[in-house]
Amino acid sequence: MQNTKSNKLWGGRFHKETSQLLEEFNASLPFDKRLYKQDILGSKIHAKMLHKCGILTNDEMQSICVGLEQIEQEIQEDRFIFTLSDEDIHMAIEKRLTQIIGEAGKKLHTARSRNDQVALDFRLFVLDCNKTLRSLCLNLIHTLLNIAQDHTKTILPGFTHLQHAQPINFGFLMCAYICMFVRDFERLESSFKRNNYCPLGAAALAGTPYNTDRFYTAKALGFIAPTLNAIDSVSDRDFALDFLYDCSLIAIHVSRLAEELVLWSSYEFKFITLSDAYSTGSSIMPQKKNPDIPELLRGKSGRVFGNLFALLAVMKGLPLAYNKDTQEDKEGVFDTFDTLEISLRILNDLLKTMEIHTNNMLQACKKGHLSATDLADFLVTNCDIPFREAHHITGEAVAYAESLGKDLSELSIEELCRINPKIPKQAHKALDLFASMEARNSYGGTSQQATLIQIQSLQAWLQTAKASMEY
Ligand code: ARG
Repeated sequence: MQNTKSNKLWGGRFHKETSQLLEEFNASLPFDKRLYKQDILGSKIHAKMLHKCGILTNDEMQSICVGLEQIEQEIQEDRFIFTLSDEDIHMAIEKRLTQIIGEAGKKLHTARSRNDQVALDFRLFVLDCNKTLRSLCLNLIHTLLNIAQDHTKTILPGFTHLQHAQPINFGFLMCAYICMFVRDFERLESSFKRNNYCPLGAAALAGTPYNTDRFYTAKALGFIAPTLNAIDSVSDRDFALDFLYDCSLIAIHVSRLAEELVLWSSYEFKFITLSDAYSTGSSIMPQKKNPDIPELLRGKSGRVFGNLFALLAVMKGLPLAYNKDTQEDKEGVFDTFDTLEISLRILNDLLKTMEIHTNNMLQACKKGHLSATDLADFLVTNCDIPFREAHHITGEAVAYAESLGKDLSELSIEELCRINPKIPKQAHKALDLFASMEARNSYGGTSQQATLIQIQSLQAWLQTAKASMEY
């Protein structure tokens, strides 16, 4: 039986070549070549660990490292020949290594398996992406904070059900989005900590009989420690699911802000004008300036959620340990990362370059009787009228204003007092829009003072978060 016909690295027991169709279906190389850096780094550290533990000689370890560096260069310079029959990046690199350095290359795979190798490479990749997205969240938060600071006096209608509700300031609204992105950052940070453990050395599923040092490997690769249980290390992909879920929430927040930008840039609102650099025209209607970019930001969320659901479905019901289904884990993560990376960059630029029309925001406050709640509150606080009755009287005032074609805030003192004998003259000041905003001075509220407290606290958070990324 020596005359094996297979040319695979695992071909010892095979007598026939694999079919072409199988190779196409089975291979992950077309997409997992993206993990080449992580694969090479993991292999170098593995070789060093094997040397330290007396399994490789110094010369063998050195020549493996030099060979791997050459391969890294070849890939970077597009000189590496990827062959589908190598199946995946792990075998493509190992095969090339043996071509370059000979026998020593064949020893690299001692005390490891592709199962722990792929678990390592992919985890390193996901942790890198996690860090990149965290720093993009910080850039976005920085931009939003600048806008917030400039606009604590910019009054606009706050909406519920997309109907005018109460006057708020634009800085306060920006702080709402900042709070969402702060939580997104923190979610990524906590996933990072939870998953910062090294699976390499778990081998196929049960550990290895060689006298290895997984703590050395983990430390050299920047992890907190090795993973605790070998069979879990090669089986689960919850580190990727954590990432996809974290990204899904970022996509939700991006899409909500993007939707506001679409609305605000319409003729109906005219709160902002998007820069020409981030707007598009229509091929038929020459007058149009379309918000394609925020619309795409909104629409991209679909694929991000899809990638999360896809991997949840792949993982459901898989028995321990490694199953080939797991190879389906990568493309969705790549796609999610690429999607969010560009989305966060472009959203940041969009926000930095948009014009904010404060006067239009103010004018919009004069529609929709935004100070109605204030009138009701005034009657409760100053006239000893129960809230339900105050609500009713204010409703009459709204109806009266509408019959005059006016906004509540535009009624004169005389007009107001004519509505109901229980309304005193002083109630007129409750109709003032700025007063209405300033009255909401509770912690977390929209008054200027309350907004400034939020801004200060978010600024302090940002400093700490930036510092935590730099250590
Ligand atoms: N290409 C495989 C993947 O991405 C690598 C692990 C293969 N392991 C195996 N026992 N077939 O999951």
